[in-house]
Amino acid sequence: MTFDTIIRGGTIATAADTFSCDIGITGGTITALGTNLGDASEIVDASGKLVLPGGIDSHVHLSQPSGPGITMADDFESGTRAAAFGGNTMVLPFAMQQKGESLREVVKQYHAKADGNCYVDVSFHLIIADATDRVLGQELPALVEDGYTSFKVFMTYEGMALSDMEMLNVMSVARETGALVMVHAENYDAIRFLTDRLERAGHTAPRFHGTSRPIPVEREATHRAISLAELVDVPIMIVHVSNGEAMEEIRRAQQRGLKIYGETCPQYLVLTEKDMDGLNMEGARYVCSPPPRDEKSQKECWAGLEQHVFSLFSSDHCPFRYDDPQGKLNPKGRTSFRWVPNGIPGVETRLPILFSEGVKKGRISLNDFVAFTATNHAKTYGLYPRKGTIAIGSDADIAIWDPKKSVTFQDKTVKDRAGFTPWKGRTVKGWPTTVLLRGEVLVENDKLRAKPGSGQFLARKAGKAAEPLGRATLEFDPKRNFGAKLR
Ligand code: URP
Ligand code: ZN
Ligand code: ZN
Repeated sequence: MTFDTIIRGGTIATAADTFSCDIGITGGTITALGTNLGDASEIVDASGKLVLPGGIDSHVHLSQPSGPGITMADDFESGTRAAAFGGNTMVLPFAMQQKGESLREVVKQYHAKADGNCYVDVSFHLIIADATDRVLGQELPALVEDGYTSFKVFMTYEGMALSDMEMLNVMSVARETGALVMVHAENYDAIRFLTDRLERAGHTAPRFHGTSRPIPVEREATHRAISLAELVDVPIMIVHVSNGEAMEEIRRAQQRGLKIYGETCPQYLVLTEKDMDGLNMEGARYVCSPPPRDEKSQKECWAGLEQHVFSLFSSDHCPFRYDDPQGKLNPKGRTSFRWVPNGIPGVETRLPILFSEGVKKGRISLNDFVAFTATNHAKTYGLYPRKGTIAIGSDADIAIWDPKKSVTFQDKTVKDRAGFTPWKGRTVKGWPTTVLLRGEVLVENDKLRAKPGSGQFLARKAGKAAEPLGRATLEFDPKRNFGAKLR
């Protein structure tokens, strides 16, 4: 046999081109693109279908401790299984440090949860909640060396929010080590101030979650994060941007030549704050941070994609069950939105939503769809060209899409373990019916063909996206300091 597998007769799209040919796969790698490729042990018929790089979802929360009495609905097995059904071949979840913990120990714990249990490939970002001297000086440099080359920092959440000084310290380590910093930009004090006032006034229903985190809270933090990154001369990714004002902060920074990247998510294109306004506690299903906004913000987020201010479209999959004492309706959550766990499920639905709402409705091209959902994730996080494209030498991570297939999302049919979908009742057109990971069929005609453990852990090198501009940081600017040496 010439190849292990040939994918025959499809229309291939990458971030750059659309063309028709067959794909030859050997040993998990793409080894030929052409016609009349000869024989293979397995032929996958893709006629009438689109053949795209497998999706990479670089913002996914799995098996994270989520506060006293709260349990995240998905572990690595169920979360990566849902990811595979949704056309993904790789996810990047977080290894989350809590105050007082060693980051190295945290990474070991997440490996114990993930290794041997994943359906798609995984790599970890690190969440830094305790920026101690030991973490900054020893653990982070060693972990970057070992392939954990991106950190998330929070400007909000009890026990997680970093001060500006801590953010600067983390950014500075990122600059030294070549890691990329992801920033959750919402002003913690402003949210606490508003939450206290809302609760005192008896406004505790889920919809007040949105009122407690209005756009200025996100815009200010976005501006501050960008300013801090500029001081240190380090690229950053502003994650889950929900509105045009925060997006414009990113655009302005980009226009000034800074390496500031932006990510948005399905909830900011499709949901609004009205979804949090259900009878009784129904709105808790949609509580996530930043909150979904209004139709104007939706349009602005679409513009952010169309105009490439955003380079990433991720799910921010963060699944909690709804009617469950360890989920959205935990006993304290019933008393105030403050205690409703933040986050919504979406790792399976991310790609079909963007395909249907974006490509099918003519808002973005098929090539941009590939860029926003696969190629740019690989480029941003040091995985390209092994991942995120269809090219000779790349891993044969491929999603075969039926562009005509309609699916209506239902709580019972979505594959994660949240038990509900925020997109219930919505119909999408276009579905990834067959998915291959490193040449092996994971999902075929919507049926699972793989076992947990088919996904591998990948260490990552620091990527180009994280390289500093090389500008003199302000304290060493010779123009200001009469010729002091550059760092
Ligand atoms: O509400 C959200 N987004 N929950 C997940 C954690 C985070 O901030 O990304
Ligand atoms: Zn976040
Ligand atoms: Zn998140």
